[in-house]
Amino acid sequence: MLDMKTFAVIGAGTMGRGIAYAAALGGYRTILEDVMPEKLEQGLAWIRQSFDEGVQRGKVEPAACDAALKRIETARSVQDASREADFLIEAVPEEMELKLEIFTLFDKFAKPNAILASNTSSLSIAEMAAMTYRPELCVGMHFFNPVPKMRLIEMVRAPKTSDETVATCREVGRRMGKEVVVVKESPGFVTSRVNALIGNEAFAMLEAGIASAEDIDKALKLGLNHPMGPFELVDLVGLDVRLSILEYLQQTLGEKYRPSPLLRKYVAEGRLGRKSGRGVYDYTQPNAAEAKS
Ligand SMILES: NC(=O)c1ccc[n+]([C@@H]2O[C@H](COP(=O)([O-])OP(=O)(O)OC[C@H]3O[C@@H](n4cnc5c(N)ncnc54)[C@H](O)[C@@H]3O)[C@@H](O)[C@H]2O)c1
Repeated sequence: MLDMKTFAVIGAGTMGRGIAYAAALGGYRTILEDVMPEKLEQGLAWIRQSFDEGVQRGKVEPAACDAALKRIETARSVQDASREADFLIEAVPEEMELKLEIFTLFDKFAKPNAILASNTSSLSIAEMAAMTYRPELCVGMHFFNPVPKMRLIEMVRAPKTSDETVATCREVGRRMGKEVVVVKESPGFVTSRVNALIGNEAFAMLEAGIASAEDIDKALKLGLNHPMGPFELVDLVGLDVRLSILEYLQQTLGEKYRPSPLLRKYVAEGRLGRKSGRGVYDYTQPNAAEAKS
């Protein structure tokens, strides 16, 4: 097993800040970097607040929080973040070109035996690994939102990922307090693929007038024990994000994943979910947002 001491997390957005939180709490020196300085500041503020909430909820000891906060540093460039890290993970937006750029930099500046990971929700790790001279050290580490609360890491094994990399990542996940499942590389892995289908079916039923959005959400929550309804979830994830995943699955896996026309219509109208004020539900009325939070 490879010795992991220092983490580099590239991208301090929704996921990167959460991964940095979990890495620092797991005992790793953690270097966080973002191309936008204000995102880095917001990320650090979010991490501090999450530790405070962890203490208030009795989930984390105050001393462990203080120690974890001291392990977090920031860097001004991917190069600077990469040099001393043993485990590098990117959490930049879901665009292959961007991921390939970051993997090229990782490979150039990181130590020769450092692991290079992506938090992609659906893209090919093999393609990213092909940009490097170390495909055996490349892996997917798919965390879930919000990272401090979600227990799973879906590890994605590309054809050339080595057994040693898989074993090391399992240990990294364990130290971060997560459960790890290992998935052979395939579009959408397990979670995004199943979730996209459930969500798409919900849109098809809504369009056919089989039930209201509220009743479809209620049915899945109370009847199937889903913690959130499919429309509540897609409003959180973003309808545009869901549409692009479905398009990718349709291209790679077939017609079963063809996006519902209603989903396409909402995206074309700018109904992207909570982030745009309206998705399946309307969040512009204070009571509506409350009802769905
Ligand atoms: N949001 C989710 O629920 C979720 C869940 C699992 C996985 N993911 C995946 O995680 C990744 C990140 O998603 P997110 O929701 O955190 O995105 P986000 O937009 O919240 O954050 C991305 C961050 O990357 C930064 N960035 C962009 N280009 C950069 C560059 N060249 N160098 C350094 N930083 C750069 C941006 O400034 C931004 O702060 C995506 O691949 C996404 O598919 C997201």
